Amino acid sequence: MNILKNKKFFITGGAGFIGTNFISRIVEENSVIVYDNLSRNALKEINIDDHPNLKIFQGDILDFKNLKRCIPCDVNFIIHMAAIAGVDTVIANPSKTMEVNMIGTYNILRAILDLKLTERIEKFINFSTSEVFGINAFRVEETTSTNLQPVGEARWT
Ligand SMILES: NC(=O)c1ccc[n+]([C@@H]2O[C@H](COP(=O)([O-])OP(=O)(O)OC[C@H]3O[C@@H](n4cnc5c(N)ncnc54)[C@H](O)[C@@H]3O)[C@@H](O)[C@H]2O)c1
Repeated sequence: MNILKNKKFFITGGAGFIGTNFISRIVEENSVIVYDNLSRNALKEINIDDHPNLKIFQGDILDFKNLKRCIPCDVNFIIHMAAIAGVDTVIANPSKTMEVNMIGTYNILRAILDLKLTERIEKFINFSTSEVFGINAFRVEETTSTNLQPVGEARWT
């Protein structure tokens, strides 16, 4: 049963792998705004990028002014999944990864505060890397303890 109906979602990184799968399940009965720089566009691959309930803003999570401008004041759910993901990409671009993943997360939180949305929104959901559970994460759940791994390991920058 789909309990999410007639809600407004603002999803950063919504054009990615997880975002596209999620949006394909909710877009018929909800309104979805995607904020993504479109370095990846999986929405296009499954032909829902022109769905009437979907609006896509092409923008960078590091562009705070633009990000803030695109968030509607009547939003119900904000989901943050704009990130540089994937071990190979992270190893190839460690500084960019830190910038996008850390400052990007700061920017969406700052925007929510600035727009005074903390009381309004039903939920803010932040996607983390599974690397917080260590290199051999298996059948972990959100409540599983996270752990710090050796600082010299490049895969978690
Ligand atoms: N896919 C998995 O198995 C998995 C597992 C655990 C956690 N996660 C986490 O979930 C989140 C999403 O993962 P995914 O697999 O969908 O990744 P993805 O790479 O498919 O999607 C990320 C999206 O972010 C966008 N993006 C990248 N840089 C951006 C920027 N500077 N500004 C705006 N948008 C930008 C990309 O265009 C892409 O659409 C990440 O935080 C990832 O670490 C993914």
